[in-house]
Amino acid sequence: MYNKTIITIIRGALGMTDCKRLMEERRSVNFFDAAQPLTPELLRQIVELASLAPSAFNLQPWRLIAVRSPEGRERLWRLAQQQPKVLEAPVTLIVVGDRGAWQGDNPAWGELAAMLGGAEAVKPYLAMAEALYGATTERRIKFAESNAALLAMSVVYAARCFGVEGHFMSGIDFAGIKQAFALDEDEEVVMLLALGYAEGGKVLYPRRKRQSYDELVEEV
Ligand SMILES: Cc1cc2nc3c(=O)[nH]c(=O)nc-3n(C[C@H](O)[C@H](O)[C@H](O)COP(=O)(O)O)c2cc1C
Repeated sequence: MYNKTIITIIRGALGMTDCKRLMEERRSVNFFDAAQPLTPELLRQIVELASLAPSAFNLQPWRLIAVRSPEGRERLWRLAQQQPKVLEAPVTLIVVGDRGAWQGDNPAWGELAAMLGGAEAVKPYLAMAEALYGATTERRIKFAESNAALLAMSVVYAARCFGVEGHFMSGIDFAGIKQAFALDEDEEVVMLLALGYAEGGKVLYPRRKRQSYDELVEEV
């Protein structure tokens, strides 16, 4: 699979101004406008764009629970250290990672079989995925969390394309949310992501210092 990749399109750089703005203007917005809803259609567009996020073997070991109802948001707020943004944002996503999604019943394997011309061709990849992502608890957790985190980040950037802001949360009761929102045994709460419009007139604290290239990168 790896050595047969065919690159059909050579693409140029995107408009640097928009790309830089996408990154530089993203902030964890603390003040959501509780009066401005996020329509189901817009949430759908955001998520469909974000679903282009990469994942190991394209297994997409994730799902999102969109908590939108007042009752659901209240329940989640209690399990998120009562962070006000869970009540103020029109939607908070529970980002769920699936530790068992490397297994043969994932529909992505069937889709790959159709692409490669049969189930036999998929068997070596399935065995590889089992060894890489299913062999130990640590590998299963890494598989679920690393992939789902890439989806979560993609949702935030996709949202920003539509003028919608996001705020990640891991100051939460992971086990409590898993139980309250009836996740499966193999599923785990990776983080929460509040989505909505920033409330006008509120000022965020200045962006905190980031590591420089030299602090961040070891060149070997
Ligand atoms: C995985 C993750 C979990 C976070 N959890 C919380 C949280 O529970 N509550 C909160 O107020 N901010 C939370 N944050 C926001 C961070 O504090 C914030 O991203 C960081 O200070 C940098 O600020 P910026 O996003 O505005 O650039 C979280 C961010 C990430 C990526």
